[in-house]
Amino acid sequence: MFEFIKNEKDWVTDELMNHLSTSNGDKIPVWQPDRWSGHPTLEMFRESARPFFEKDTPYFQQFNTRSKDMQGFEITLPELPKVRKHCHWWFVKYLPGQMQTMHIDPHLVEVSNPVRYTMFLQDYEPGHVFVFDDFLATNYKKGDLFEWSDPECIHAACNLSYNIRYTLQITLHD
Ligand SMILES: [Fe+2]
Repeated sequence: MFEFIKNEKDWVTDELMNHLSTSNGDKIPVWQPDRWSGHPTLEMFRESARPFFEKDTPYFQQFNTRSKDMQGFEITLPELPKVRKHCHWWFVKYLPGQMQTMHIDPHLVEVSNPVRYTMFLQDYEPGHVFVFDDFLATNYKKGDLFEWSDPECIHAACNLSYNIRYTLQITLHD
């Protein structure tokens, strides 16, 4: 399940969106054989994806606290309903045609009490795809924040439209 928590549209400022749209962030390979290990599902997806991606892995764009493009740009996350010792956030930017195949997040495989959130930074538009198990996210609004019922749920995203797609991803864990 993908549970709606609240809308934070005022958090999604023009300044933030302008920064994300005019910066590239880090180039992240769609297929990451070194990281996709330590969990049977992740290993299954890694090997299923190998025939296509081994030869020519495309990329998507990501911004996190260590990204060169985020230095000097302060991020204070919106208030979240749950608290844990550690917090990680990253923005994901998909140019038209970029994608990520079904996976579970490798950094969550060996942590305790994980919590996972997604915030959409734009209103839904056809072609902006987020798949969460057998659920397809549609009709969300800019600033809608969702909590994942299972932080290790299989998921994927892609951009089949002609407009860039942006989300904020947050993980908490002890
Ligand atoms: Fe993911």
